[in-house]
Amino acid sequence: MKIGIIGYGKMGKEIRRQAESEGIGVAAVIDPGALEATAKAATPEALVGADIVFDFSNKDAVMGNIRAAAAAGKNMVVGTSGWSDKLPEAEEIVKQAGTGLVYSTNFSVGMSVFLRITDSASKMISRLEQYDIYVSESHHNQKTDAPGGTAKALAGIIMKNVPRKTKLAFDRIDGRKISPEELHVVSMRSGWNPGRHVVGFDSQSDNMELVHATRSRADFAFGAIFAARWISGKKGIYSMDQMMDSVLG
Ligand SMILES: NC(=O)c1ccc[n+]([C@@H]2O[C@H](COP(=O)([O-])OP(=O)(O)OC[C@H]3O[C@@H](n4cnc5c(N)ncnc54)[C@H](O)[C@@H]3O)[C@@H](O)[C@H]2O)c1
Repeated sequence: MKIGIIGYGKMGKEIRRQAESEGIGVAAVIDPGALEATAKAATPEALVGADIVFDFSNKDAVMGNIRAAAAAGKNMVVGTSGWSDKLPEAEEIVKQAGTGLVYSTNFSVGMSVFLRITDSASKMISRLEQYDIYVSESHHNQKTDAPGGTAKALAGIIMKNVPRKTKLAFDRIDGRKISPEELHVVSMRSGWNPGRHVVGFDSQSDNMELVHATRSRADFAFGAIFAARWISGKKGIYSMDQMMDSVLG
């Protein structure tokens, strides 16, 4: 397999490092600002030698990149975040081209499993009124959103499964007690932490915590390469969740 990488920043470089360590060749690197790039913009011609194309660029570039890969007849793994409103358009492009695409804003395979564990654990806890529930997440000090998308996804799963939690509390709670129907989601930003998520269940007599800690960007690159192998030879557009449904059965 030979790959093309659109967006040669932190993730693009990590994907190259990991791909090459697995004996996967890199046929194209596309980035307007990287010295190592083979092209500055994604065009069908620039992608010609790649069997599969990764996009880890930015939200304003991603639709143009999807169009270029589809025009070249290439399947794609899209990790770029912030373009979910354009998903129907992407679906149409991929359908017309007869190509395949898998997307996620978090390609950690472990996180995908963690979301499922949170789903089944919170279903059990919903029947046990003695437990309160919380979510906490911590990330490096360069992250600009809080809470992050994954913390929101965890909170969404809990809210769906636990009818006694009807309100999210993301911000500071000054001068009042948190009410029982609120699910507190806490964010901490500091240092170099690549991402740690905790789902906690707390009663008067015990505490349970589910923890997922990403060690480095390699976690996302591993999942993206896993997704590349999975989407090879497939047609249509899939979320990582749909991919994991088919992998886990
Ligand atoms: N899905 C995941 O698991 C996952 C993990 C980490 C980051 N991300 C997302 O991936 C994206 C990239 O993250 P990063 O940390 O590598 O960012 P980064 O800023 O280090 O790299 C982005 C690169 O994209 C390049 N770029 C910008 N416009 C481009 C275009 N039109 N064509 C080609 N390249 C272009 C930039 O020059 C830059 O080198 C972000 O949206 C981030 O949120 C996803």
